[in-house]
Amino acid sequence: MLELIHTADGSTTILNTELNATYHSKFGAIQESTHIFINNGLKFITKTNINVLEIGFGTGLNAMLSLQKAVKENLNVNYSAIEKYPLEKEVFEKLNYFELIDIRKEQLDAVLNCEWEKENIINSNFSITKFKSDANEFNYTQKADVIYYDAFGPGAAPEMWQSPIFEKLYSILNTGGCIITFCAQGELKRILKRCGFTIESLQGPPGKREITRAIKN
Ligand SMILES: C[S@@+](CC[C@H](N)C(=O)[O-])C[C@H]1O[C@@H](n2cnc3c(N)ncnc32)[C@H](O)[C@@H]1O
Repeated sequence: MLELIHTADGSTTILNTELNATYHSKFGAIQESTHIFINNGLKFITKTNINVLEIGFGTGLNAMLSLQKAVKENLNVNYSAIEKYPLEKEVFEKLNYFELIDIRKEQLDAVLNCEWEKENIINSNFSITKFKSDANEFNYTQKADVIYYDAFGPGAAPEMWQSPIFEKLYSILNTGGCIITFCAQGELKRILKRCGFTIESLQGPPGKREITRAIKN
């Protein structure tokens, strides 16, 4: 069962009651996504042509905020996202991101409802390809500059926080690229180090002390 939640910054999110997992922080969905994935992920890459890979497309919030950033900074973002359990269009309609993100509704709508397994050009700054797949089984081939690792946390989805997927992600990251995630567990940092990453513990958004950036040097 999915329940709509109002978070502290005025943006909404979803609670999956079976897993007891929210898609974003109750302290502020947009605030959290912006802090973690845009300011400490996308902004970390200093090129203008950037390949983003997202693990866990969910409500599409990270993708829409990336589109907004790409337009504002005149970047060329090629966005790929993997999602095992896509949300229905009706769920997207209940969230209030259309009102809060400064991009034309048709373009936001196209990000959320575009065809799967196909490149969709949203505008001159942003294209998106979404894959309906289990991220643990996905055949990773395309190189990435930044990976938004936004699966449910280790409590709700332990299978998403084990070595094999991070080894695969290391192999497709460009040198100088990074994985950015909300998770700051010691076990995750040990796994990432063993894969070859350099770990940075960064200040988290409100309600979260720390987040993790893993860099491929
Ligand atoms: C924290 S939510 C993602 C929030 C999302 N990034 C957003 O901006 O709304 C975690 C997402 O991971 C997805 N997920 C769970 N297990 C997965 C798997 N094995 N492979 C791919 N996606 C998975 C869930 O369905 C959910 O959409």
